[in-house]
Amino acid sequence: MAAAAASCCHGCWLLPLLLLLTAAAGALGAGGSSLELLDVKSLLLPAASCHTPEEQKPGTTRMPVVHRHGPCSPLAGKQGKAPSHTEILAADQRRVEYIHRRVSESTGRVRRKRGAAPVELRPGAPSSTSPSSLSSSTKSANLPVSSGSVVDTGNYVVPISLGTPAERFTVIFDTGSDTAWVQCEPCVVYCYQQKDPIFNPSKSSTYANISCSSSYCSDLDVSSCTGGHCVYGVEYGDGSFTVGFYAQDTLTLAYDTVKGFRFGCGERNRGLFGEAAGLLGLGRGSTSLPVQAYDKYGGSFAYCLPATSAGRGFLDFGRGAAAANARLTPMLTDNGPTFYYVGMTGIKVDGHLLSIPGSVFSTAGTILDSGTVITRLPPSAYEPLRSAFVKAMAARGYKKAPSYSILDTCFDLTGHQHQGKVALPPVSLVFQGGACLDVDASGILYLADVSQACLAFAANDDDTDVAIVGNTQQKTYSVLYDLGKKAVGFAPGAC
Ligand SMILES: *[C@@H]1O[C@H](CO)[C@@H](O)[C@H](O)[C@H]1NC(C)=O
Repeated sequence: MAAAAASCCHGCWLLPLLLLLTAAAGALGAGGSSLELLDVKSLLLPAASCHTPEEQKPGTTRMPVVHRHGPCSPLAGKQGKAPSHTEILAADQRRVEYIHRRVSESTGRVRRKRGAAPVELRPGAPSSTSPSSLSSSTKSANLPVSSGSVVDTGNYVVPISLGTPAERFTVIFDTGSDTAWVQCEPCVVYCYQQKDPIFNPSKSSTYANISCSSSYCSDLDVSSCTGGHCVYGVEYGDGSFTVGFYAQDTLTLAYDTVKGFRFGCGERNRGLFGEAAGLLGLGRGSTSLPVQAYDKYGGSFAYCLPATSAGRGFLDFGRGAAAANARLTPMLTDNGPTFYYVGMTGIKVDGHLLSIPGSVFSTAGTILDSGTVITRLPPSAYEPLRSAFVKAMAARGYKKAPSYSILDTCFDLTGHQHQGKVALPPVSLVFQGGACLDVDASGILYLADVSQACLAFAANDDDTDVAIVGNTQQKTYSVLYDLGKKAVGFAPGAC
């Protein structure tokens, strides 16, 4: 019992000792009572340069993960400046609202029909005036909003290769959606600017269209038929969309290949995909990569998101991707499609379990998401977190600062830096089975500025809205998803 608590929350047993130390050394700066040391400068964008070289391990499926707008990203640079913090947080809010809508659709009254799309999805033949004929017809035809997300905030990218010979593309990866796609030639009217050359299926000897009569075509949430070829459509919550032929080709992940991988060859695409060539869906739905390649990888993958935008993490597939020291919690699979549900049961601040009734977490349910930036909690869980955190920060002498965008609990770190670092009270998320995410120092605060560092959590509107563990809090952990074992895991210090 005590051992479990200690492994779950590294601050607990340290606390009495540190209190003693702090009391003894009253003159010591804020750094003296540190439990989590935050390197302030490293979190302030824009990071100057890429710190970490790209490492390749021959024979593996391990791909480097970088922040889309960071200095290590092949997409960063001249074309399009990195979005501001307020833009990122506003987009994050749109993604969360979209996830909430999808969740209530799939669990609620309106269970939508799949497959039959009473709308003409025609790749390569844009209708004249409407900027988004898919989007408008979607409304009138009451088409399901397909598996997807507001990828505007899908902040992390990986290199994949498609076709024979293999062409390399940098794509967003997203556990909040299923169907993969890339922009495809011929893509004339509705294509956005991307960094890599656009995929040309006629140059790949292994490319094939999927026929409308194929069962794979009916796996799609939104599909249609043109000349016997299956047409897919994915519309995202912010009006972004991609439409094209549903196709198959060889997918290369680092040094490994998945033959006959099914993806959308997008000839009409619009949205804020920011130079990425497309998207790799890692959800639980039948069209996602981990489900398609289940026999090969056992439905198992793991990623690590780096602490700063100048760092590198990884995305890896197969049982070998799991870290031996991962703390596991059950993957809850009865809650509808796509998303990865876990059972959050509690929150610790400064080593103390907050007093939050278990029903608060069980009512809302919790999704683990790679694309949401800021963790969203039921108001009845967020309030105790906020007040405990404010108290712990006040005890360390931090002054409050004005709220920032969706973040209402901010502090002025000016003058508190001790050799560039500040001390923070530890925050831990506790899950069923005792698994615990001791949030890395880089994931406790969201730094708009040194004078405005905000608790990187926010409240949902209502206790019935699903909670979402966002990517800020996942940083530096190897986050494991195992569809075979129905488990999710966290291993610290992985990147
Ligand atoms: C796929 O379908 C499109 C549209 O009908 C066609 O132009 C293309 O040649 C097809 N590709 C293959 C490899 O069959």
